[in-house]
Amino acid sequence: MRQQNFAQNNNFLIMSGFYSSTVGKKFWVSLTGLFLVVFLAVHLTANLMLVFDDTGELFNRVVHFMGTNIIIRIMEPILAIGFLAHIFLVSILTLRNQTTRTQNYKMQKLGHASSWASRNMYILGLVILTFLVIHIVNYWYKFKFGDLPTTTYGAEEMENAYGLVSGLFAIWWYDVIYILAFIGLAYHISHGFWSAFQTIGWSSDKARKVWTAIAYLYAIVIGVGFTIIPVYFLLK
Ligand code: HEM
Repeated sequence: MRQQNFAQNNNFLIMSGFYSSTVGKKFWVSLTGLFLVVFLAVHLTANLMLVFDDTGELFNRVVHFMGTNIIIRIMEPILAIGFLAHIFLVSILTLRNQTTRTQNYKMQKLGHASSWASRNMYILGLVILTFLVIHIVNYWYKFKFGDLPTTTYGAEEMENAYGLVSGLFAIWWYDVIYILAFIGLAYHISHGFWSAFQTIGWSSDKARKVWTAIAYLYAIVIGVGFTIIPVYFLLK
């Protein structure tokens, strides 16, 4: 019994040591990154409704559904924690690498020629962070604390999210900022997605090729998918 407890305690110490170590931090960066990748797919799907119906009803209904759905509401703080943890851990790792100048976190991973994206992950992350601050202030904050005009469909009254988004995308330089951010996002994902799987340890030589292809494909889908929205409003 005592031996079992000792083994359990030892395992716990090894595990807690792992999570607070550099390797453990990289693991969490990967896990939170993959979580954010899933969020992006859901967010893109919802936002593409902007271009499928220019009366705005479809988008307003989707935003209303997301805003009142219990699962989405529960996910919101988890998403915020995921973003903050990702940024915080990447910052610690980058600072540590810069001061010690030992093994470079910008992925000196065996067999993977260092790409432009891999060498600039932190800068790309900062571009996305700047975009996120602008984005959260303009959208999320206004939804939560602003006084958005409402619209009615039949007996249902809801916030006119389409009015807010289409109003902002009517400003050409606002579209340009978004497009530049989406290019940065695509590059960030192209390396981050692949790298996350490598860190988690699912990458043999053969798997690496497959994950690289999936990462590039996903990055293109997310980058092009989001870019369609400001381009659509620019051309409208
Ligand atoms: C054209 C592209 C985009 C549009 C039109 C858009 C639109 C919106 C809108 C309307 C909201 C407020 C929804 C609400 O609070 O209920 C929102 C929230 C948010 N957006 Fe975006 N978004 C876009 C791209 C992005 C990208 C690329 C990211 C991440 C890199 C992102 C991250 C977020 C986050 C974290 C929130 C707050 C959480 C949430 O409400 O789901 N968005 N976005």
